Amino acid sequence: MKPDVQIEVLRELMDQLDRGVNADAGGMRAFPADAYTCRDIARQEREIMFRKYPQMIGMSGDLPEPGNFLTNNDLGIPVLATRDKTGKFRAFLNACRHRGPMVETERRGKKALFSCPFHAWSYDTAGALVAVPMEDQFGKIDRTCLGLRELPAVEHLGFLIIHPDPEGEIDVDSVFQGLDDDFRAWGWDSYVLGLEQTLDMKLNWKLATDTFGETYHFKRLHKDTLAVNFHGDVLSYRAYERNHRMVLCLKGIDDLRSQPESQWKIQAGGFPVYFLFPNVVINVGDQRIAVVRVYPDPENPGRSISQVSYYFRKDVLAENPDMALMFSQGFTNIVAAEDYATAETTQIALESGLVDTVLFGRNEPPLHHYHNTFRKALGLEPVALLT
Ligand code: FES
Ligand SMILES: [Fe+2]
Repeated sequence: MKPDVQIEVLRELMDQLDRGVNADAGGMRAFPADAYTCRDIARQEREIMFRKYPQMIGMSGDLPEPGNFLTNNDLGIPVLATRDKTGKFRAFLNACRHRGPMVETERRGKKALFSCPFHAWSYDTAGALVAVPMEDQFGKIDRTCLGLRELPAVEHLGFLIIHPDPEGEIDVDSVFQGLDDDFRAWGWDSYVLGLEQTLDMKLNWKLATDTFGETYHFKRLHKDTLAVNFHGDVLSYRAYERNHRMVLCLKGIDDLRSQPESQWKIQAGGFPVYFLFPNVVINVGDQRIAVVRVYPDPENPGRSISQVSYYFRKDVLAENPDMALMFSQGFTNIVAAEDYATAETTQIALESGLVDTVLFGRNEPPLHHYHNTFRKALGLEPVALLT
């Protein structure tokens, strides 16, 4: 986030505090509750939002050096991502071209060759088929046509983006719409991975995402945790076409009032949270970020998997290696134990079939925006404001 934008956002938050107002969606909306429980909607979401749009699968810090690899099975297709020996980020269908097993089953690591466990056909980090045992007995094959099936892959501003469709296109401007300038200024391409964790929860993936969508609950659900350091009921909010940016308000903002604006830093008074369509939430702390990718269960709308990765500025983590664990524990204590735990009870109620709608207040504009964005992606009409 550029310095002038930091000042603008901090001013906006101070103004909201002074006037006792919050971000405003202009009215309330009632969204159909079956978006969280219906199997047909869940199937469409997976087929469209998670297969027809580019997907963020990690950060540059996940593949720090040539030969590093990463696998991902959260999208319904097995993905092997590599940094090839020239340093280029690549992604492949993680399936051997002989008879199809995954050529790599470890979550991450470093290798020069990926050797299929079945008959040991081997592929290099650029996906080329470089070894076929007993080729004279197997039959004559054209190795140049039997490399790993490559998926579109782009590394941009520290983000690793793939397209799950081999014929798909990644339009960087569209993927990062509205967020590019902020991301460029953060410099996350040099951050390193400190820790990752998986939260397997009994809640629809959108319920998980919803918990990051307003500050109305801070003084209530988080009264003994987040509310100690955050002002609730204020929010700087910008909606873009499919993405958005929220900036939460730290109580440290009160101290900035006596300092010249030229010295203001967003981290002293604000906590930016970005949403990257369809399922990525980036929580921006001081020289560290917590990136949450929320995936639907392919079979069960009432279950989701949150992959949470914590990245740090390299020198900061090197100085204090315990920071990764501390940051992750703090995050999990709040998100899993308070937000997601409450949302699991929501899921139970919604599964009853007796709840028709969920109501989004005018003070919860991010929820209005991304639920209507999801509806648009599925070809549904947006939900209008209640009159
Ligand atoms: S299936 Fe991979 S080498 Fe045979
Ligand atoms: Fe929360």
